[in-house]
Order: sequence, then structure tokens, then C-alpha cells
Amino acid sequence: MFNNHSLMFLVLHFIVICIAADEFHPPETLSISFASRFHKTNWRSRALSHGDAVTVFNVEMYGAVGDGIYDNTQAFERAWNAACVAPKAVLLVPRKKIFLVNNLVFQGPCSPGFAFQVEGTIAAPKDPAKWNKKDIWLTFQQLQSFQINGSGTINADGSAWWEGCREEIHTDFVSCKFSQRPVAVHFGNCSRVTVTGLTITNSPNFHLTFNDCEAVKIRALIIFSPEYSPNTDGIDIGTSKHFDVRHCIVSTGDDCMALGNGSSHILIKNLTCGPGHGISIGSLGKFNSSAMVSTIHIDGARMTGTQNGVRIKTWQGGSGMVKDIQFKNVEMINVNNPIIIDQYYCADTPNLCRNQTSAVQINGVTFINITGTSASQVAVKFACSDTIACGGILMKDISLKLSSGGQASSFCENAHGITRGDIFPPSCLKN
Ligand SMILES: *[C@@H]1O[C@H](CO)[C@@H](O)[C@H](O)[C@H]1NC(C)=O
Ligand SMILES: *[C@@H]1O[C@H](CO)[C@@H](O)[C@H](O)[C@H]1NC(C)=O
Ligand SMILES: *[C@@H]1O[C@H](CO)[C@@H](O)[C@H](O)[C@H]1NC(C)=O
Ligand SMILES: *[C@@H]1O[C@H](CO)[C@@H](O)[C@H](O)[C@H]1NC(C)=O
Ligand SMILES: *[C@@H]1O[C@H](CO)[C@@H](O)[C@H](O)[C@H]1NC(C)=O
Ligand SMILES: *[C@@H]1O[C@H](CO)[C@@H](O)[C@H](O)[C@H]1NC(C)=O
Ligand SMILES: *[C@@H]1O[C@H](CO)[C@@H](O)[C@H](O)[C@H]1NC(C)=O
Repeated sequence: MFNNHSLMFLVLHFIVICIAADEFHPPETLSISFASRFHKTNWRSRALSHGDAVTVFNVEMYGAVGDGIYDNTQAFERAWNAACVAPKAVLLVPRKKIFLVNNLVFQGPCSPGFAFQVEGTIAAPKDPAKWNKKDIWLTFQQLQSFQINGSGTINADGSAWWEGCREEIHTDFVSCKFSQRPVAVHFGNCSRVTVTGLTITNSPNFHLTFNDCEAVKIRALIIFSPEYSPNTDGIDIGTSKHFDVRHCIVSTGDDCMALGNGSSHILIKNLTCGPGHGISIGSLGKFNSSAMVSTIHIDGARMTGTQNGVRIKTWQGGSGMVKDIQFKNVEMINVNNPIIIDQYYCADTPNLCRNQTSAVQINGVTFINITGTSASQVAVKFACSDTIACGGILMKDISLKLSSGGQASSFCENAHGITRGDIFPPSCLKN
């Protein structure tokens, strides 16, 4: 806790650093390239103190202009570099303004507890030719004990990237004019990160991805893009563990959430999904690769008009294991494949559709209290590998009927497990 005296000291300290930096030399935490730009500018003190001893760094104090036109890439870099190393800092993107930025890497580590508060809009250049990089728009890297929050919007404005894309009906196969399209927001190598409240929209590709992260909390995100937008997954997690994802609303042209190789201990609660392709584990085992996904618990989801409800998909070939997966309390509304395990996934790539003798093994998948309506006849589909069976499937209290009112059916190929409670459509699992 700071008393008034130390708070005043902190404020003065910042003003002194900033003035000194303007006139003589930058604080030593700033990079060389930043320093040279810094000298050409003439801003006043950059940090404003704020109630509870946090220091607010408004991007506007670093030269950012929220008119939706000015390129704020460097202003954001300067603001980030200054706020990141300050104690108890909040980097603020103020409300009611649109800040255009090109590709940015928000590099950590930063001071523990650093917060990025987005109340306004961060927008990407509309014209793909203007983007500096084609892989990721906003990268957050090497952050520990960090949060990004606020009621603002991250708008990747990706419609031009979707032009000329064709998606085959009911497959994930897409071909586009731009062979590489950027992910909107990526977290790499992070721990103890919280992402709260933001809206992320119109990504050229996946909206929000995590790799090599652990202990991540995600709360109340709104992620949306048109249903026709290609590969616009909502939240993708890979090589990461201990995630807690709650109260998100995702409606895009691809998976609402996808959990890829190396995901474990992922809890998802109260997810609202659709349109989109549903919740996916996978795809796994492509090109004979080995995969490991374990302890994924989905508790509470509502899927509306999605291509799939809850899905596990693996390619033929491959090795490794998917285990301890729970799908609980999921409501399906006119979903095409409400429950699906597909070990013959091949995205319509003919030479990858060939049956092989190995597969990623699926063991221990629980479906409890899955209710609602199926848009297609087969509401429950377990297409397990011919050579390696799915084992340990538990189904309890399943009630799925056709959207048209009729009786749905189940399909099983080499699927083993047990049932509890009432199961509609009747189970075809082998004991
Ligand atoms: C975002 O985080 C900052 C810093 O912890 C906090 O002051 C602010 O209240 C948070 N805003 C929201 C909407 O959670
Ligand atoms: C991940 O971050 C940690 C801590 O900052 C660092 O030691 C490690 O080298 C990073 N790993 C990668 C692959 O960047
Ligand atoms: C589920 O999430 C939605 C959207 O964020 C929210 O409005 C609702 O209150 C949440 N429900 C519960 C039970 O937390
Ligand atoms: C999948 O993850 C496991 C460990 O989690 C790793 O050994 C394997 O190489 C990964 N496979 C691919 C294709 O990256
Ligand atoms: C995967 O393994 C099968 C069987 O050994 C082989 O026929 C196939 O070419 C392999 N695929 C790749 C992409 O390596
Ligand atoms: C079943 O799931 C629904 C949400 O789809 C939930 O409202 C209901 O309370 C659950 N029933 C039980 C018995 O848990
Ligand atoms: C692969 O095996 C499955 C299950 O036996 C079968 O239904 C399917 O037709 C086979 N696919 C190909 C491309 O041979």
C-alpha cells in the first residue's frame, strides 16, 4: 500500500523520468530504435496517477491519435515500453476512439500485475497490402502476471482477406486468394494471464490463439465474424495447460473453440457458440504426428446452428492419446453433428483420406446432460479408427431429437463404453 506521500513521490518520479527522457536521454529500459524516435518528439509527462496507486499510461500521451486513420503502431510501442516496466501500471486505450495499428509485438516480461485496459477500439489496416506481416497482427509474448481487460474492441477488419475464399459445404476445406492470412491476437509463452471483457472481431484467420501458456483465465469475451468468414476460429489453445474459460460468446465461420495438441487441464464454462463449427478437440495426428490432449472439461455450453456441437477429430495415421474429456450440460439448438468423434477427418484432402493402420487413441470421453436438437439424422456419431478403438466412453442423460421433430439416430464404428440414465437416440456403444 502507498500512503499519500509515497504516491506523490511516485508521480513526481515519473514526471522527472519523462522530462529527463525528453530532453537528455531515454530511460535505460527503452530500446535504441525507440530512443531515436523519442528524441524527435516533444510530449509532456506520460503517466497520470490514479486512485489506488496505479499509474495510468494513456496511449494518447505517447502520440497516439484515435481518429481511425493515423498509424499508431509506433505510439503504441512507445506506450507499451514505458508502461510495461513501470510498477502498478495500466496501459489505457481510451474509450470512444479508434486507434489504427499495424502488426505489433507486445513483448514481456513486464512488471508483475501489469494491465492493458482497452476501452476504445484497436483496428487493423483494412487493405491486406498495408499489413507489415502476414502471420499475426497483435502478438503478446513472454508475459507473466498480466491482464488485458476493458469493454473495448479489437477489430482486425479482415473482410478483404476473406475475398475469393471458397469453403466446401460441411467440411473445413478452404481455398483463398491469400494463402497466408494473419491471426488477430496471439499469446505466446505466457503464464498467469487474464483476458477479460473484450470484443475481438473480423479476424482474417483465427481470432485469439495461445501457445506455450499456462494458468490463463479468460472471461466474458465476445468474438464474432460472419458465418462465411474462413478459418475464423474463436479461441484456439495449443501446447498449454491450466486454462479457465468462462462466459464467452463466440460466433464465427469456424470452431468457436479448438483445443489442439499439447492442451491439458482446460476448463470451459458457460460458452455460447454459433454460428460456427462448434467446440473441437483437434485436429490431431496429421502427417502421422504424435498428439497428446488430456483433461479437457466443458461444463455448460449452448450451441446454436453450428456445424458441430462437441467434436473430437483426428486424421488417419498418427499416434498418441486423447484422454479424460468431459462434455457436460450442453444444449444443442439445430446443430448439424451434435456429438461427433471423427477419426477419419481429412478436410477433403484426397491423399490424406486414405485409411491407415495407426491412429491417435481416444480413451475416456464423457457426455453428460447433452440435450436439444439435431439438424441432421445422425445426432451421435462415433467414427473411431478401425485399428484402434475408442474406449471408456460414458454417456449419461442424453436427449437429442431432430429439429424437424423426428427421431434422430446414432452411428458407431469401433466405439466402446457404457451408458447411464436415458439416452436418446439409443446408444450403439459396445460394452
Ligand atoms: C482492468 O484492469 C485495471 C488494472 O487492474 C483495473 O483498474 C480496471 O478496473 C480493470 N477494468 C475492468 C473493466 O475490469
Ligand atoms: C519463455 O519465457 C521464459 C520466461 O520469460 C523464458 O525463460 C523462455 O526462454 C521462453 N521460451 C521461449 C520458447 O521463448
Ligand atoms: C453466461 O455468459 C453470458 C454471456 O457472458 C452471461 O450473460 C450469463 O450471465 C452467464 N451465465 C451464468 C450462469 O454465469
Ligand atoms: C504434440 O505434443 C507433444 C507433447 O505435448 C509433443 O511431444 C509432440 O511432438 C507434439 N506433436 C506435434 C505434431 O507437434
Ligand atoms: C504415414 O504413414 C503411412 C504408413 O506408414 C505412410 O503410408 C504415409 O505415407 C505416411 N504419411 C506421411 C505424411 O508421412
Ligand atoms: C442440463 O444442462 C442444462 C444446460 O444445457 C442445464 O440448464 C440443466 O440444469 C442441466 N441439468 C442438470 C440436471 O444438471
Ligand atoms: C476407412 O474405413 C472406414 C471404416 O471401416 C470405412 O467406412 C471407410 O470407407 C474407409 N475409407 C476409405 C477411404 O477407404
